[in-house]
Amino acid sequence: MKLIRVKDYDDMSRKVANIISAQVILKPNSVLGLATGTTPIGAYKQLIDWYHKGDVDFAEVSTYNLDEYRGLTGDDPQSYRYFMNTQFFDHVDIDKANTHVPDGSNPDIEEACSSYDKMVKDAGYVDLQLLGIGRNGHIGFNEPADAFSKGTQCVDLTESTIEANSRLFDDPEDVPRQAYTMGVQTIMNARMIVVAATGEDKAQAVHDMVFGAVTPQCPASILQLHTNCVVVADDAALSLCP
Ligand code: F6R
Repeated sequence: MKLIRVKDYDDMSRKVANIISAQVILKPNSVLGLATGTTPIGAYKQLIDWYHKGDVDFAEVSTYNLDEYRGLTGDDPQSYRYFMNTQFFDHVDIDKANTHVPDGSNPDIEEACSSYDKMVKDAGYVDLQLLGIGRNGHIGFNEPADAFSKGTQCVDLTESTIEANSRLFDDPEDVPRQAYTMGVQTIMNARMIVVAATGEDKAQAVHDMVFGAVTPQCPASILQLHTNCVVVADDAALSLCP
């Protein structure tokens, strides 16, 4: 695991965007694994800026997002598909047909999960996976558990995740209780993983991810076993690290 210490959110966003940009320049038809949440917004903005300047383009890129709320359609403003469109895809030259998010509107759990797994597998898995980290160490929506998950699964969100996500909803009661998420094994299949972390509320999770025991109680800790994983974290997120 390589640790890159940055000073703040903007610095983190530029460094993460630089890594993604280098990946796409070196391999224009890269398969990117993407995340939603607050953490990557700055990196997406930076990539959009560089796209407008002609420094990078996404015409041949395909993407697979980590997760989606179960029960939401892609045109729901709270859905992760909507987030990706508005925060990134709508502003660059990516072919939307090559962008993939688990289908939250599919009520058939078995089918929704197996079809997403098949798509990621058929794409040859992910070249570069971008991850944020939850305050409880979750990656994607793989919450602390007794075992690491494998493929795409439907999960019940923990109270802490529901509470953390409620800031993005008008009414906390509207936060969906379930989500489809790529499994930990699929995430580990990515050839490179970049974890972005910012802010003091991530400090414990970042500490446990990098220095703690490898345990499904902190799903991100398994990234210690990945051969090409980079953590880009700011001073606040690293405040509990030695
Ligand atoms: C989002 C995702 C989640 C977030 C995590 C951190 O697609 O997979 O694991 O990365 O919950 O969220 P933020 O960035 O909002 O702190």
